[in-house]
Amino acid sequence: MKVLKATPANIRDGAQAIRAGDIVAFPTETVYGLGADVFNPVACAKIFEAKQRPQFDPLIVHVESPKQAELLFSTISPQAKILIDKFWPGPLTLVLPKRPEVPPIVTAGLDTVAVRMSSHPVAIALIKAAGTPIAAPSANPFGYLSPTTAEHVRDQLGDRVSIILDGGPCQIGVESTILRVGDPPVLLRPGGLPLEEIEREIGKVTIGNPVASAPEAPGQLKSHYSPRTPLTIITDPVQLPLGKKIGYLSFKKPAHELTVNKLEVLSATGDLREAAANLFTCLHRLDDAGMDIIFAEPVPEEGLGRAIMNRLQKAASR
Ligand code: TXA
Ligand code: MG
Repeated sequence: MKVLKATPANIRDGAQAIRAGDIVAFPTETVYGLGADVFNPVACAKIFEAKQRPQFDPLIVHVESPKQAELLFSTISPQAKILIDKFWPGPLTLVLPKRPEVPPIVTAGLDTVAVRMSSHPVAIALIKAAGTPIAAPSANPFGYLSPTTAEHVRDQLGDRVSIILDGGPCQIGVESTILRVGDPPVLLRPGGLPLEEIEREIGKVTIGNPVASAPEAPGQLKSHYSPRTPLTIITDPVQLPLGKKIGYLSFKKPAHELTVNKLEVLSATGDLREAAANLFTCLHRLDDAGMDIIFAEPVPEEGLGRAIMNRLQKAASR
């Protein structure tokens, strides 16, 4: 396994590996992805292998332009067109009926495919150099925290991936928002693009329900994003247990000193965008600190706060 700085030469090597049917980890503005040539089913299978991901879990396909999405979507509705014009490149994944050329391993047998155009220059350059859309879930073992740095990928996947392109920490830090286009449009996963901004363009969006099994988006599985350490969302005032090593995830800078073993602050000023960008990094640190339990403060459920609470609730329902 090689961690390579995302220079033009190394991006070319990454693209060559993709063309040769290998898997490559690369940065996006949301989280790091683990990519393969979408039209090479064996290469896509390597993703599931590396992630030890259940087969029912379909992959998000990354394109370098709206034009390239036409290779994947069978039709692009007027509603989809509005969203693409407004929000691509960016943290919005659209689910639409797929073309027959898209292998079923990519969509887990569904007749729809999830596609997005990342705003990260390394992702765009890699897809262009590979000359094919790249299927890529987050580059973490199934059910574990999403990686927001190249080090997270290396620590979690190690030798299961041959090349990791290092483009620094991810700006947004939570996965893309997933929307099934249609009448009504359905939010399958809250994420980096706030729901309010989508509704401003296309009106009311139906919220998909979290379901326990055979979910439409496995990101909807209640326990999908989990640290190994038990996590509890606190309701104040909390009685911190004695004789236990306590990790504490604070939304803002605490008003008074807390008697905990390890403290992580999502955003000193209580800024939700900064909190989202720090979420997985803070959870990784708490999880690696050998605590008995992690207490997490709730954040306001507006804008990116919805995606943050979604992740925390999943981590807590483990
Ligand atoms: O920000 C992101 O979206 C990151 C970066 C790497 O782009 N990717 C990501 O992929 O989060 P992943 O595989 O961890 O999450 C993909 C989600 C899954 O919950 C999957 O079930 C859902 O997208 N999905 C994919 N295809 C779908 C489809 N046809 N219908 C419904 N959900 C779909
Ligand atoms: Mg994931």
